[in-house]
Amino acid sequence: MHDLRCALPAIRSAGMTLRDILIHPDPRLRTVTKPVGEITDDIRRLADDMLETMYDAPGIGLAAPQIGVMSRVLVMDAVKEEGAAPRPMALINPEVIWSSEETNVYEEGCLSIPEQYAEVTRPAEVKVRWTGLDGKAVEEQFEGLWATCVQHEIDHLNGKLFIDYLRPLKRQMITRKMQKLKREMARGEG
Ligand code: NI
Repeated sequence: MHDLRCALPAIRSAGMTLRDILIHPDPRLRTVTKPVGEITDDIRRLADDMLETMYDAPGIGLAAPQIGVMSRVLVMDAVKEEGAAPRPMALINPEVIWSSEETNVYEEGCLSIPEQYAEVTRPAEVKVRWTGLDGKAVEEQFEGLWATCVQHEIDHLNGKLFIDYLRPLKRQMITRKMQKLKREMARGEG
């Protein structure tokens, strides 16, 4: 998920690699991803690279299919208070186990749909269960921007994008803009 309010400094350490972010439309962004089995060094490296790529963008969330890895891994850091310490999180095999009746509206964006923003209504609070990078099961209840972010990223793991919540006409308009952007990018590189 993209958020212009995010002004966090990039957290960098040796060995992290920036990955290319796929732009919609791309069949990999429409694929249901596979659960992660064991938490290996490869998975920890993937999470590090994803955090590096997310902070660099900058964004507040990134899901593995957005860098072409079809596994149920997402990273996020929705700390938005200026000067607050960052809270990088990596969630393996996350699932929403409870959603509030109460909803919240946020203007969402997506690193795979650059420069496009629209209001999306989602449950205001969700309880999520996942496996941490240490292999332990974790449960946490999220609210506010964190709740929206984690739901947006879990959607990615199921091949769903925030534009799917919009009216078809608006969605088609955004998709056409992205097709044009990709053509321009391809020309620029060629
Ligand atoms: Ni996104």
